[in-house]
Amino acid sequence: MNTHPQVLDGTGAEISGLSAPAIGTPRTRVEGRDKVSGKARYAGDIPIERLAHGAVVTATIASGRITAIDPSATLASPGVIGVIDHRNAPRVDPEAGSPFFGPDGQLQLLQDDQIAHGGWPVALVVAETHEQARAGAERLRVSYVEQPHDIAFSPGHPAARPALSAFGPDANKGDLDAELAASAVVVDESYTTPAQHACAMEPHVATAWLEGAVLRGIDSNQAPYGIAAQLATLFGKPLSDVRVQVEQVGGGFGSKTGLGPQLILATMATMLFHRPVRVALTREEVFLATSARPRTDQRVRLGADRDGRLRAIGHEAAFEISGKSEFIENCVEIAKTLYAADAIRTRLNVVPLNILPVASVRAPGTAPGSFALESAMDELAERLDMDPLDLRRRNEPEVGPVSGLPFTSRNFQLCLSEGARQFGWAGRDHRPRRRREGHLLIGTGMAGTSFFTTAFPSSATITAEQDGTFTVAIAAIDIGTGARTALHAIAADALRVGWDRIRLRIGDSAIGPAWQAGGSLGTTSWGWAIVAAARDLLEQLESGPALPVSVTSDTTEEIMSRPHRERHSYSAVFAEVAVDPATGEVRVRRLVGRFAVGRVVNPLMVRSQLTGGMIMGLSIALQEEVVRDEVSGRQVNADFAGYHFAANADVPFIDADFVEDHEPDDPLGMKGPGEIGTVAVAAAIANAVWHATGKRHRELPIRLDRVIED
Ligand code: MOS
Repeated sequence: MNTHPQVLDGTGAEISGLSAPAIGTPRTRVEGRDKVSGKARYAGDIPIERLAHGAVVTATIASGRITAIDPSATLASPGVIGVIDHRNAPRVDPEAGSPFFGPDGQLQLLQDDQIAHGGWPVALVVAETHEQARAGAERLRVSYVEQPHDIAFSPGHPAARPALSAFGPDANKGDLDAELAASAVVVDESYTTPAQHACAMEPHVATAWLEGAVLRGIDSNQAPYGIAAQLATLFGKPLSDVRVQVEQVGGGFGSKTGLGPQLILATMATMLFHRPVRVALTREEVFLATSARPRTDQRVRLGADRDGRLRAIGHEAAFEISGKSEFIENCVEIAKTLYAADAIRTRLNVVPLNILPVASVRAPGTAPGSFALESAMDELAERLDMDPLDLRRRNEPEVGPVSGLPFTSRNFQLCLSEGARQFGWAGRDHRPRRRREGHLLIGTGMAGTSFFTTAFPSSATITAEQDGTFTVAIAAIDIGTGARTALHAIAADALRVGWDRIRLRIGDSAIGPAWQAGGSLGTTSWGWAIVAAARDLLEQLESGPALPVSVTSDTTEEIMSRPHRERHSYSAVFAEVAVDPATGEVRVRRLVGRFAVGRVVNPLMVRSQLTGGMIMGLSIALQEEVVRDEVSGRQVNADFAGYHFAANADVPFIDADFVEDHEPDDPLGMKGPGEIGTVAVAAAIANAVWHATGKRHRELPIRLDRVIED
């Protein structure tokens, strides 16, 4: 349990006399009852008058151009209102994109006849009902000239080039080659990870309509404000004339952080046909036409002295990217932060291919990156004949290993020791293939990670109402993580009142600028804004003004004026596996994770979040992979039958808990527990499979056919 004292001055109990502090108290979701009783409304559930429905038509080729579209059969189909394609679609701003990655060709839907990947949307059929739209879409005849496509990923691809550096430059500390040459033991191995999908339960769905000059949207997304801003730029409107709302989101896992095709196409349709239009992607379209995590190929070089002290860390990663939009899968991030070494060098390259855009998926960068680095650390321990836990204890940096900056709070060692104790690591025989149970091979493995944390500027408005309640408004969104419940607790404590006096309004871009449910920093960023607005409001209330009184506060200045230092969450993960060498089946028997994620607002939900993250990590280790057909260039397994991920029967006992931790540069002491649960698990499992079988798996997923023994 987190026992840090209240960072806010005063406690809820003293001032209001109503309740104990809400932060730190386990609570179930405020919207939980509505969700399980079917009352909660997701983007596709909201009734709208005169609603029409759009169905997407996607390209069947992976490269080339459209030569003709014949809509006659579609237009004759019952209920069809019209067809939009590149010939009649509203023009959009070619420069529209995102603040991190610049202009984004993924947003340029229906603007020309070019096809950049299989699954690219080529038309939208609009009809009175969803079924009629789909039937009309089936009848649309699209002709193409096909050009050769290229989906063959390799780090040495002729088109490979450096990735964007918006998340920091390559590391170039010391002389890597000299340190490797001086090392007693060296590891030089390459690791590959497949493309993966976010796989949110709720498919992407949006409704758009015009209310006078105002473009309204209801959209399943992770960033109401950011997406409204992107939509405004794309369609050349002032932001004040665009409003994007959403009540509940059935998961996003990264795939809903940016403006999605559903909202762009719904907007075009409402502009052309003057009806509210809803576009709900099918599951296949979510796979083909939204985004994925890229394949990666990562060379890791480690050099150490005989006693395990690291001299050299080299991490050179390449990942695939679409020809249409930039992205940074920052696989090399933890190589710059986790361990001390005299020389640290990182490189990050992209390889443009005819694939769908790559974007955030469940711990972008660190999930594949930690698989490579932490597998290599295990290989180094093996070659040193050393306990892999000791190897990690021996390389703890005093300051940022590349930046030289101080850390705020760094509790990696605490995660390692607490995890090891809980797991029962002590006394492990580190040699592989030593434990058997009947025909099964048993092994254990561990890995750790750091995870970047900060807070992003956001604004919140709080109103002190006449009835003694407080309306707290922030353009936050809860994608299923429990953010809404956490913000209730933060607001109650910040205003020093009981939980029942808080009315929270989220999910509406019109409230004002706010960070997204992304980068594990939604609740941290929004929480800070609520704290700031509560502080300013309480100050105003001291003079006893007539109610209601409203205050809007923005955190930009406070966030920018923090000291210059490194901020990270940390974890250590321990796994036990049983491997059947005759079938290749790997069963994970136990997972223990210990996490330093700052102050924990809601222990119940943070444990749930971390447990869920560890299940995703298990899934990444053993099951998940996009399979593309070389001939057609299209994804073969674009459905939940063919794209495997962990379900209940795959999941063992998971013990996820947090260690004492506190972020001094955050007013609530928070760091953000969103994604770190997913990281480090794949390496821990791969290392356990090596310990069980003696075979290294440097390619994910660790499928049956890669494990089976003759
Ligand atoms: Mo997260 S993958 O940054 O939405």
